[in-house]
Order: sequence, then structure tokens, then C-alpha cells
Amino acid sequence: MTESAGRDGSPVRLQKILAQAGIASRRASEDLIARGRVEVNGKIVREMGVKVDPTTAVIRVDGTRIVLDDDLVYLALNKPRGYHTTMSDEMGRPCVGDLVADRVDAGQRLFHVGRLDADTEGLLLVTNDGELSHRLMHPSYEVSKTYMATVTGVVGKGVGKKLRDGVELEDGPAKVDQFAIVDVHEGRSLVKVVLHEGRKHIVRRLLDEVGYPVESLVRIRFGAVALGDQRAGSFRKLNRKEVSDLYAAVGL
Ligand code: URA
Repeated sequence: MTESAGRDGSPVRLQKILAQAGIASRRASEDLIARGRVEVNGKIVREMGVKVDPTTAVIRVDGTRIVLDDDLVYLALNKPRGYHTTMSDEMGRPCVGDLVADRVDAGQRLFHVGRLDADTEGLLLVTNDGELSHRLMHPSYEVSKTYMATVTGVVGKGVGKKLRDGVELEDGPAKVDQFAIVDVHEGRSLVKVVLHEGRKHIVRRLLDEVGYPVESLVRIRFGAVALGDQRAGSFRKLNRKEVSDLYAAVGL
């Protein structure tokens, strides 16, 4: 955000904030305001010229929250198998920090949102937004995550129900929200698991408990964010809608 957009907390005209956030030109932003599509701190603002403090205001356009601070970074990373979920590894093993090293070297204080096991691949969010990250990890908000697991054995029909009903693990009961058998081939099954909790090794432990040890595990979705066909080891910036949906999922 530039100085002129009120980084110091000084009030700024709403249409100017919207234009600087890249929502629309200033003229088109005035139109959005006039049509009642812009909300500030929970109230629709229709008058022109209203000034708000961009450092504290929660602004939504059509219900979608606008991120006003350009210093905030939201990345979707495809963690390769064998990489440790840490920003720097004391033992020099490959880690997530290596994949975003250019950004960290440039001064961005990035951290990963939760963890994936070293042996797990797939979607890991990386950000410098402490509040969002904290909430995404907090048990009271935990968002839904989707995994594809290849397991040893031919998964039987009753397994999904068992996992949805819940099983007892050593640190307490656990259950999945959804379970589907996607493919069975040469004594292995590919299954899709959706759950919202984040205990350590939770998917591996759940599948082990019902008799199907995990051979490989990939996280393909975290809340509103999907991995898609992103190359292993690459990252991309989340789009405005994805960030806004993550905010909404944790009540921000
Ligand atoms: N569950 C696991 O078992 N491992 C992960 O990395 C994530 C979820």
C-alpha cells in the first residue's frame, strides 16, 4: 500500500481505497458504492466521499473481503515428497523454506500454515498473515482439507461408514467428513478423504486403524484453495477470491 492510501491510519476516501486495491477504477468504484455493493465494517455505504481508515476497516465488495495491505502475501505451494515442513532445517534437509528462499531473502517473513509430513506431498499455504494463519490452525475454525491416499489392500465397502462414524485413536476419537474409493488396482486402493481436523499424521493413523496402511499421501485442497495441476516444488499467489474465502472460513 502506498503512503497516499493511509498506511499511517489517516482516513482515505473509499473509492480511492478500492481503486488502489485494484478492484476497479476510481470512477467504477464510485459506481459500486452508489449501487450499494460496498460494505465497510458491516454496513453498506452508499454515500460518496466517505473516508475510512484502511489500516483497520473491513471492506467487502459483493460480500467478498478486500485485502488492503499489499505487504500481505498468500501462496499455495505444492510441497514435494521428502521436503520437511519448516522454513529452515537445522540438519540441512530439503525444506519448504528452500522453495520460497528468494522471497525470504528479499525480506518477506513467511511461514507455513500447519504442516504436512515429510512423506506427504501437496498443498501447503505459506503466508505472512499471522492472524489468518493462526485462525486457520485453531481447532475451533479448522477448515476442511482433502487428501488422496494410496493404501495397501482392496478397501471394502464398510470402511467409509466406519471412518465417518469415527474410530478411536491413541489420542482420542477421530472421524472423516467424507470418504470415497476412487480406484482399486493390483492390490492397492486410491481413496479420497475429507476431514477438518489437523492432528499429527491424522490421515495415516485413521487409515492404518481401519487396516489400510498409507503408501503415499497428497493433499489436494485446503478450504477454498485447490492444488490443481501445479508442479511439485512450485508456488502460486492465491487470487482475491481464495484469500477472501479463507478469511470468511475463519470469521475474519
Ligand atoms: N495427515 C497425515 O497423516 N499426514 C499429513 O501430512 C497430513 C495429514
